[in-house]
Amino acid sequence: MRKAIIIGNWKMNMGLREGLTFLGALENVDTDIEVGLAPQFVSLQVMINNADKVLIGAQNTHEAAAGAFTGEISSVLLKEIYADFCIVGHSERREYYNETDFKVNLKAKQLLEHDIMPIICVGETLAQFENNETNEVIKKQVNESCKDLNIENCVIAYEPVWAIGTGKTATSQIAQDVCLMIRNILSEMYSSDIANKVRIQYGGSVNADNIAELMACPDIDGALVGGASLDIDKFSKLITY
Ligand code: PGA
Repeated sequence: MRKAIIIGNWKMNMGLREGLTFLGALENVDTDIEVGLAPQFVSLQVMINNADKVLIGAQNTHEAAAGAFTGEISSVLLKEIYADFCIVGHSERREYYNETDFKVNLKAKQLLEHDIMPIICVGETLAQFENNETNEVIKKQVNESCKDLNIENCVIAYEPVWAIGTGKTATSQIAQDVCLMIRNILSEMYSSDIANKVRIQYGGSVNADNIAELMACPDIDGALVGGASLDIDKFSKLITY
C-alpha cells in the first residue's frame, strides 16, 4: 500500500517569517497522508527545526558532493540539516537552467547516497502534448532520469509543463494514463514489484477542487502543488481532500 504524499513547492515565494507562520498552522491540520513543503534554501534549516510531522525539503541540489560551484547547494549539506526530500528536474529548472535528464539522474544519485528522498519531475511541453509526443517524451525522461537508482526510495512527479501555473489541469484520465505509463516503464526498468512500490505524484494546477478526483486515480499517489500551496486555507483544504 503506497502512502499518499502531497508536497507544496513554494518556488521563489514566501518569506522566512511568513513561512514559519504557515508551517505552524499546517502542523495543526489533521491528515494521515504525508505532507511536505519546499521553501527557498535560506528558510530550509529554520523550517526543519520548527517542523514536527510536516516534511521539509529543498527545491534543487547540485550533482557533485563538493567543489568549485559558486552558488550551488550540495546534498551533503542538505543531509547535515536533515532535509527530508529534494525536488530534482522541475520543468522550470529544465527550461531556465539547462537541467538535463543525465544531470537529474546524477542529482538523484547524490541525494540517495545521503538518504534524502528525491522527487524526480518529468513532463511534456505544450507543443509536445499537441504533437502527441507525450508518451515518447516521458519514456525518454523516465528511462534516463530514473536509471540505476534505488527507485523505491524516490517519488516521481508527472507534471505536464502546459498545466503548471496555467490553471489548466490535465484531466484526471490523462494524468492517470501517464502515471500508469510511468509505472509500466519502471516495471520494465526494474520489476513490477518495485514499480508497484514507487509513489507517483501528479502536478500542474492542482487545487482544493480537483485534488479528490486526481487522488481517486489508482496510479496517482499524491501531488506536487505550486500556487495553491502558498495559501494556508487552500493548502489545508487540499491535504484533507
Ligand atoms: P502549480 O505548480 O500548482 O502552480 O501549477 C506546480 C509545480 O510547478 O510544481
